[in-house]
Amino acid sequence: MSAGKNAGIVGVGSYVPEKILTNYDLERMVETSNEWIVTRTGIEQRRIADENTFVSDLATKAAQRALEDAGMQAEEIELIVVATITADMSSPAAACMVQHNLGAVNAVAFDINAACSGFVYGLSVASQFIQTGCYKNALVIGAETLSKITNWKDRNTCVLFGDGAGAAVLKAVEAPYGILSTHTGTNGSMGKVLTIPALNLAAEELAKRDQEYARTIWMDGQEVFKFAVKIMVEATKRVLADVHLGVEDLDMIIPHQANTRIIDGAAKRLKLNKEKVFTNIQQYGNMSAASIPVALDEAVKGGLIQNDDIVVMVGFGGGLTWGSAVVKWQK
Ligand code: UT7
Repeated sequence: MSAGKNAGIVGVGSYVPEKILTNYDLERMVETSNEWIVTRTGIEQRRIADENTFVSDLATKAAQRALEDAGMQAEEIELIVVATITADMSSPAAACMVQHNLGAVNAVAFDINAACSGFVYGLSVASQFIQTGCYKNALVIGAETLSKITNWKDRNTCVLFGDGAGAAVLKAVEAPYGILSTHTGTNGSMGKVLTIPALNLAAEELAKRDQEYARTIWMDGQEVFKFAVKIMVEATKRVLADVHLGVEDLDMIIPHQANTRIIDGAAKRLKLNKEKVFTNIQQYGNMSAASIPVALDEAVKGGLIQNDDIVVMVGFGGGLTWGSAVVKWQK
């Protein structure tokens, strides 16, 4: 790889299951209301995968759309990274299943577990493989079926999540275009505020020692909320500063879609106009690793991102983890 090449995003795609679960449906399942969910989170409905549809199925469909958008064949792909916390199996990785489904026989494939930050972590890893010249291109996918691990009796969490997948094809492009910088971070000491136990014997033993791990999705919402607003602001400023840009240079921010109040709070602190902040949480809820790539696909296809735009993707989630990426867009 010669100097002066970046990894550019040359194709995007997404797929969400057909089944819609509205807030009114949830009113019949737990003690909640459409009014509470909309005012506290911004969510109106979410998509739910049926019992025979898994993360690898959603990821494959999103990847096929991204490949089509990039005008590339599956056999050309050299690396597949799937960001997920709801893979079909512990092994094989969802990425290996996607490789097989696509017929991407020349690709190395592995998963990343960084919860809602997973897609940005994936961009960070894949773009560095491309910059070093190790791989010419990569497929980065964020995919989740959170509905399969949701405690449908816990109103604190069951109203928040949804299923879906989004994908991006990365390829070497000439600077100054492409991914200009990524920033990722972790604070494991805060891991207990958002947990999902593994379904294995080790997890059962761990749960006996520490009851906080012994549930389905469990979250201290307020702790995550405070962390989220702060870290979104910091991670956005940090990744822009890495490439000597400021918030005033930003054309579009694609934030993780966890709560409109978190997004609005971060946007206000960044002094960003609403038109520069993409949201689609109303329709999909929080899709964890799939939130940012689905939002990116919709923003691009909706004509909201133009060539030469400076775009930041920023997320936070279980771990706790966070990540941001700044892109000078060219397609
Ligand atoms: O993707 C990354 C991870 N997740 C997040 O980013 C989520 C971050 N946190 C949040 O978005 C918010 O904290 C929540 C939306 C989860 C909760 O909003 P909140 O304003 O922090 O509400 P709260 O937890 O303080 O609860 C307020 C009240 C409580 O009742 P009391 O104790 O005041 O009587 C809850 O029991 O709302 C109650 N409540 C509900 N009421 C109706 C909690 N969930 C519901 C519900 N429907 N679904």
